[in-house]
Amino acid sequence: MFDLNGRVALVTGAGQNVGAGIARVLAARGATVVVNDIRVERADDTVVAIRQAGGNATAVGFDVTDYDDVASSVEGITAAIGPIDILVNNAGNGGAEGMRPTQFRDSEPASWRGPVDVNLYGVMNCARAVINPMCERGWGRVITIASGAGVVGLNIGVSPYGGGKGGAIGFMRHLAVENARAGVTANSLALGLMGMPDPTVTASLARQIPVGRTGTPEDIGYACAYLASEEAAWVTGQTIHVNGGSVTT
Ligand SMILES: NC(=O)c1ccc[n+]([C@@H]2O[C@H](COP(=O)([O-])OP(=O)(O)OC[C@H]3O[C@@H](n4cnc5c(N)ncnc54)[C@H](O)[C@@H]3O)[C@@H](O)[C@H]2O)c1
Repeated sequence: MFDLNGRVALVTGAGQNVGAGIARVLAARGATVVVNDIRVERADDTVVAIRQAGGNATAVGFDVTDYDDVASSVEGITAAIGPIDILVNNAGNGGAEGMRPTQFRDSEPASWRGPVDVNLYGVMNCARAVINPMCERGWGRVITIASGAGVVGLNIGVSPYGGGKGGAIGFMRHLAVENARAGVTANSLALGLMGMPDPTVTASLARQIPVGRTGTPEDIGYACAYLASEEAAWVTGQTIHVNGGSVTT
């Protein structure tokens, strides 16, 4: 079950944390994984870990917010490794400068573009680069790593990020319906709070999660392995909450 042998998977932003976990799990299920990161040295580290575990992986550095960079990289991957069967849009954050929680009424317009660029345009750029070849081959899987912040309002100062994630979730529903008859599925995972290198930062929040802990990169990898599989062919256009049981609606 959930055998990914023979599949080529591109995971964006997979040089660390969640994306690296997704890449490791897909490789362990047999996929050849193209590990992307804007910081290619991080992608190299993920590739080393996958190869040491006996998997197949290659690092490719590009910026998901730059369509020309994405398109030429996808062309290069296709020529060197083969067409992309599985795209996981994981790259995302608060923009080029990371997350800087700010109440919207105190924010400057210049700070809005980064989160929307990476969390929405990054998803659209990568999807556009792979969707036609997937449809022509009659098989494809597009998975976007979104967030609870794209589904509900939160009073933690992340409204542009929530706008980018919410936009990506809406976009994915349209992508799913437009391409459903071509054998391509498109789904989003809305993550809850993930663990951090220093667990004391999230310890009190973790106690409020019904399962009693924050998420691990592997938790997200397993959900991706399912959605990427043959067995998930009838699941499309969905936003699946992977959050330890936290209430989001
Ligand atoms: N960490 C959480 O609590 C949490 C919660 C909900 C959703 N998410 C989502 O999960 C995903 C991964 O989160 P994370 O915590 O592992 O992030 P992270 O910041 O630790 O890692 C993201 C990686 O993406 C790369 N990246 C950033 N911009 C890029 C770009 N333009 N092109 C290519 N690569 C780029 C970074 O170099 C980094 O290695 C993100 O989409 C994030 O929004 C995370």
